[in-house]
Amino acid sequence: MKELYRKKIRDILEQKETEKEIIVKGWVRTKRGNNKIAFIAINDGSIVHNLQVVADVPKFKEEILEKMSTGTCIEVRGKLAESPGKGQEVELHADEITLYGPADPETYPLQKKGHSLEFLREIAHLRPRTNTFGAILRLRHHLSYAIHKYFNDKGFYYMHTPIITGSDCEGAGEMFRVTTLDPKSPPLTKDGKVDFNEDFFGKETNLTVSGQLEGETGALALSTIYTFGPTFRAENSNTPRHLAEFWMIEPEMAFYDIHDNMDLAEDLLKYLIRYILDHCMTDLEFLQKMYDDGLIERLDFVLAHDFVRTVYSEAIEILKKADQPFEFPVEWGKDLQSEHERYLVEKHFRKPVMLTDYPKDIKAFYMKQNDDGLTVRALDVLFPKIGEIIGGSQREENYEKLRQRILELNLPEKDLWWYLETRKFGTAPHSGFGLGFERFMLFISGMNNIRDVIPFPRTPNNAEF
Ligand code: 4AD
Ligand code: MG
Repeated sequence: MKELYRKKIRDILEQKETEKEIIVKGWVRTKRGNNKIAFIAINDGSIVHNLQVVADVPKFKEEILEKMSTGTCIEVRGKLAESPGKGQEVELHADEITLYGPADPETYPLQKKGHSLEFLREIAHLRPRTNTFGAILRLRHHLSYAIHKYFNDKGFYYMHTPIITGSDCEGAGEMFRVTTLDPKSPPLTKDGKVDFNEDFFGKETNLTVSGQLEGETGALALSTIYTFGPTFRAENSNTPRHLAEFWMIEPEMAFYDIHDNMDLAEDLLKYLIRYILDHCMTDLEFLQKMYDDGLIERLDFVLAHDFVRTVYSEAIEILKKADQPFEFPVEWGKDLQSEHERYLVEKHFRKPVMLTDYPKDIKAFYMKQNDDGLTVRALDVLFPKIGEIIGGSQREENYEKLRQRILELNLPEKDLWWYLETRKFGTAPHSGFGLGFERFMLFISGMNNIRDVIPFPRTPNNAEF
């Protein structure tokens, strides 16, 4: 008994070692057959494919096979054999079946029929057991691994930036407060305001919107670092591209200017796409078949072309001449909306686009100011289907200019003293960017809603599970 060990279905289908005695554990997807023979398709999540288990009905106790409904968890001991049937090369001839956990067909929500993605969001605790979310979770895993591999191979160090912070990196005020004060009767100051001196940290704190500011302290010491962690935005955007909790990859590099920054962004995105094409083809093919005919072609296309590099002002000129109306006005000084970004990428250039030199008033305080006094060395990378996938910039390394901008924007200098000191002592030109992990997952998977590329989406009015 003990010399047998459990094999994962992915390895079984790859190795096809017929005549071998093995143990398989997983969840029943379907059962069919008659009173002589039963075919049970089981899946263990290691790969999108099922393994077919063949059981001689008379060999088993009736109640065992009766309970093999969709969702049941079982262990099967048996011999692997070539399959005469269509659809699989090998099958498992069962000698022994053990039931771990039944799933009552009256109440188990994931019956055979296809379910809408909307319905699956309501059962996010069970949706990993579907082919779609199995594929999504595996893609997220491989993509995360590839990110660490890419940076490690390039000599970047992974820096753990804090989740709880006392500063607002993007200066947009879209933060979730972290507090232990009693919401019903918080301590008050003499002038009736909440007294955060009494709070856990003795000051106002929030969940981070970006690890960048702390990441810069690492770059200005270790030269090249990256963070990859959860970030939080309390923006009330109910769109298919916004989450309140999402993951971000943020490299930060000393001695990189905006052009080096663009080179790195393009190289990283292409590396990751290539990695996924090389390692996740089974899942990509499944997603392509189910959701997006053009998926693999689009991934190949991005690999085959240089990204377009141009400036914001040029983009505005192009949009003004566009042969289609936009919902939001196009005007120098206004931020680009996703409809504008997608026009540039999908209709005009028909390639990913890297836009730099945005008006300073629509970008964050830390971006390097250009000599024109109007624009900053911002970088946005725009992708087909997604729009903005990366936001970044060369950073303002001049102490006085940075401090001036902080004052101009009425940002709390007292919270940013340490950030300013990185410019006071041994400052250096440096750059970085943030790649939205779930935005990139949308692109890689062909899914249309960001709620369907993260295990447990957090969006306005939704934090179930
Ligand atoms: O453009 P953003 O706001 O840039 C920053 O946070 C910089 N501090 C990054 C840096 O330079 N280190 O956000 C970066 C990226 C966006 O391009 C987008 O891909 C993603 O993060 N993003 C979101 N993804 C999902 N839901 C949201 N609400 C997002 N907000 C931004
Ligand atoms: Mg941005």
